[in-house]
Amino acid sequence: MKHGIILLGPPGSGKGTQAELIIKELNIPPISTGNILRHTLEQKTALAQELKGYIEKGKLVPDELIDRIVAERLVHKDCKSGFLLDGFPRDLVQAKFVNTIIEVTHVIDLKVPDKFIIQRLAIRKRADDKPEVIKNRLNVYHRLTEPLIKYYKRQGILHEVDGVGTVKDIHRRIMKELKVDLRSPKKEYGFRFLYPLRNC
Ligand code: AP5
Ligand code: MG
Repeated sequence: MKHGIILLGPPGSGKGTQAELIIKELNIPPISTGNILRHTLEQKTALAQELKGYIEKGKLVPDELIDRIVAERLVHKDCKSGFLLDGFPRDLVQAKFVNTIIEVTHVIDLKVPDKFIIQRLAIRKRADDKPEVIKNRLNVYHRLTEPLIKYYKRQGILHEVDGVGTVKDIHRRIMKELKVDLRSPKKEYGFRFLYPLRNC
């Protein structure tokens, strides 16, 4: 079974920012459902119109659709040695689906209080960063995604990381949870660690 790491956290918690750094260290591809969906929105198709209705309101797109998108992406050759899931799963239905197709080795939960999220997203200019949409995204997160924290805690694979601070510090905290010593990655590269580290 293929294995992967999940980046969990509220909207604006830095999942995308940290994903870029992690994938460089681990040599694995990022699978960001948000980016895949935004890419689909750029095409002038009926599906794009339908998706727009969810994303621009800050609602989750239907589980069946997102599950299919992820399953299709995971069969690509670059996912052979693992991958990083950013923004997926986002509710219990998706989490249960994930368990049927991959082995999740780590869930990194980025902890960022709502007040920081609102500040961070207020200065970005993405189409879904309007104040009322941010509010809705946060509500959806607390109602549907936050329960995954308990779900993964029970499975013993949850790693909580303080997501407030500099990007570099947060990256260090994450790599520590993944048991990678950035000063000497080879030292920490043991058989229990499944991902192909850079320089190894
Ligand atoms: P998605 O694209 O996943 O958005 P999100 O979860 O709302 O999160 P963001 O991408 O806004 O934030 P992030 O956590 O990646 O943080 P970032 O690094 O960008 O999803 C968008 C929509 O698609 C959803 O609302 C839904 O409609 C749909 N969707 C996606 N996945 C789905 C799924 N699985 N099921 C159903 N629907 C789905 O950082 C945010 C900002 O903060 C940036 O400006 C960044 O520069 C800044 N920043 C980052 N780190 C720091 C730091 N340490 N200090 C200060 N600022 C920082
Ligand atoms: Mg993102």
